[in-house]
Amino acid sequence: MMPFRYENNQLCLLDQRLLPHEEKWIEQKNSHDLIESIKNMTVRGAPLIGFTGLFALAFWFKDQLKPTVDGYKEICQLIKSARPTAVNLMFEIDRIYPSILKKINSLSHMELYQEVMKDCFAQIDILNQKNTHMAHTGVDDLKKIYGSKKLNLMTHCNTGMLACGCTGTALGVISYAHDQNLVNHVWVDETRPYLQGSRLTAFELEKENIPFQVVVEGAAHYLMSQKKVDAIFVGADRIAANGDTANKVGTANLALIAHHYKIPFYVVAPLSSFDFSLKDGSAIHIELRDDKEILNYKEHRIASHKAQAFNPSFDITPGHLIHGIICEKGLITNPSIEKLKVWHV
Ligand code: MRU
Repeated sequence: MMPFRYENNQLCLLDQRLLPHEEKWIEQKNSHDLIESIKNMTVRGAPLIGFTGLFALAFWFKDQLKPTVDGYKEICQLIKSARPTAVNLMFEIDRIYPSILKKINSLSHMELYQEVMKDCFAQIDILNQKNTHMAHTGVDDLKKIYGSKKLNLMTHCNTGMLACGCTGTALGVISYAHDQNLVNHVWVDETRPYLQGSRLTAFELEKENIPFQVVVEGAAHYLMSQKKVDAIFVGADRIAANGDTANKVGTANLALIAHHYKIPFYVVAPLSSFDFSLKDGSAIHIELRDDKEILNYKEHRIASHKAQAFNPSFDITPGHLIHGIICEKGLITNPSIEKLKVWHV
């Protein structure tokens, strides 16, 4: 399901916090609304956050009769700081920044608005093609390892259309593997505490008629030790030059267990999720979120009223635990700083 709608200059976002039980569309009237929608997780998922950042920039131009260079710099900084871990947000704004800067004094504010909107939709189309290509790369590698055997796959968080605004990354591979009749079953990590797995991935798999069951993250060792998992596909929020990967918290645990049982563990993400300025994952800013996400379920308190919680939203999977990283340029197995250099653009 597409997470946004744009018709007659009106932009609405699907409120992902209410899925799967309620489908509510929220009209975004200005850049403030869009930045707030990134912060409060109306939209989430690394690529979609990046595109929403571009929408926020476009809407800023719409409201500025005479945009200035200083104002432009300020709004770009504000958008980039809406969420810290997924680098796609910074990538998209930094990518478009110089070309818009050049035009800021020659185009009208409405022309700048149109320009950024056009660029954003073009990027969504491009990502769609890249993700389709990555899905083929992932399935080709599965075929090399397992032939035509029907597989039990596992995934974490949500990496489908809801996270990307087009074909998914890791979920795109799973969906294509299903089209190729290679999927027996998908284990969906519920993905505590925000439940992107049980609320969003399950919803997307159900729509595609892909057989799945939701499991708690704590079941991962049991499933892998019982040979019930043939491969794991996850997405990424930021990948450092050596392959260390920030992704939704709980990902690194899966990678460790998979490494122990020699189960192929794949990270699937476009180059817009790579941060080659970081030599390893130690400098990646891990977002800390409200402890209520752990202590409450929605408005309902679960833990005692005095309990406190610590809520890092992401973790770093060391590159050496990853069997393969897939991006639009192909697959690199056993990633290292040397091997990943060929993707550095
Ligand atoms: O906090 P979220 O839901 O924005 O988390 C980001 C993610 O969706 C995941 O970490 C995902 O695995 C990578 S984005 C395709």
